[in-house]
Amino acid sequence: MKRHALAIDGPAGAGKSSVAKMVAKRLHYTYIDTGAMYRATTYKAIVLGVDLQDPEAFGFLDDTMMEFHDGILFVDGEEMTQKIRSNQVSNHVSVVASHIPVRNKLVLLQQKISKNHNVVMDGRDIGTVVLPHADLKIFMTASVEERARRRHEENQSLGIPSDYHQLIDEIKRRDQIDSTRIYNPLRQAEDAVFLDTSDMDIHEVADKIYEMFANVLQPKGSERTNG
Ligand code: DC
Repeated sequence: MKRHALAIDGPAGAGKSSVAKMVAKRLHYTYIDTGAMYRATTYKAIVLGVDLQDPEAFGFLDDTMMEFHDGILFVDGEEMTQKIRSNQVSNHVSVVASHIPVRNKLVLLQQKISKNHNVVMDGRDIGTVVLPHADLKIFMTASVEERARRRHEENQSLGIPSDYHQLIDEIKRRDQIDSTRIYNPLRQAEDAVFLDTSDMDIHEVADKIYEMFANVLQPKGSERTNG
């Protein structure tokens, strides 16, 4: 059976995950937060005490079980939501996500999930590498200030200590690392729809993407009438 996929890429804090979650719910699709997978890898590496700079130190991924239930990531049966949002994880995840063996393993896992489920997947390389044949690709971005403001609000709602100006610096630093890494950098796919959401409310963005996706699956005017 053909599975459908909506790919949402963009830089940190563009609101991808909130929007992806809303659209997935409306479509009854599985939401896959690939950033959470890179974060969980970083978290586990810190717990195991491995050298985060060493691309060969991530062999433990072979014995790691990652699963999503209702959009929530579980690693080896443990819920990851809060643990992977710590500043320690945020500050190291870009380096971990730049390691080729880490990317290869996580991309394979993401592709495997999308074979068995209709998915809304968000990340940095979904439209370019993970799901190059996605039904619709969105490249979502917003100004650095707006992204920092959103991340600040998200942190506050999760009870995580947060400093707006520090977030601006961190977002700039991560943008730099994510878009200049050699292997699978953050890049807009040629056939992706570009969306600047700086002046849009998150619900407006979700509605717009939902409508575009519905139109790709069943173009307006092509509905068949019975009889
Ligand atoms: O979306 P996020 O902030 O939770 O992502 C965490 C990090 O993971 C970010 O620095 C970029 C990286 N990432 C990636 O390289 N490729 C993806 N598909 C998703 C995230």
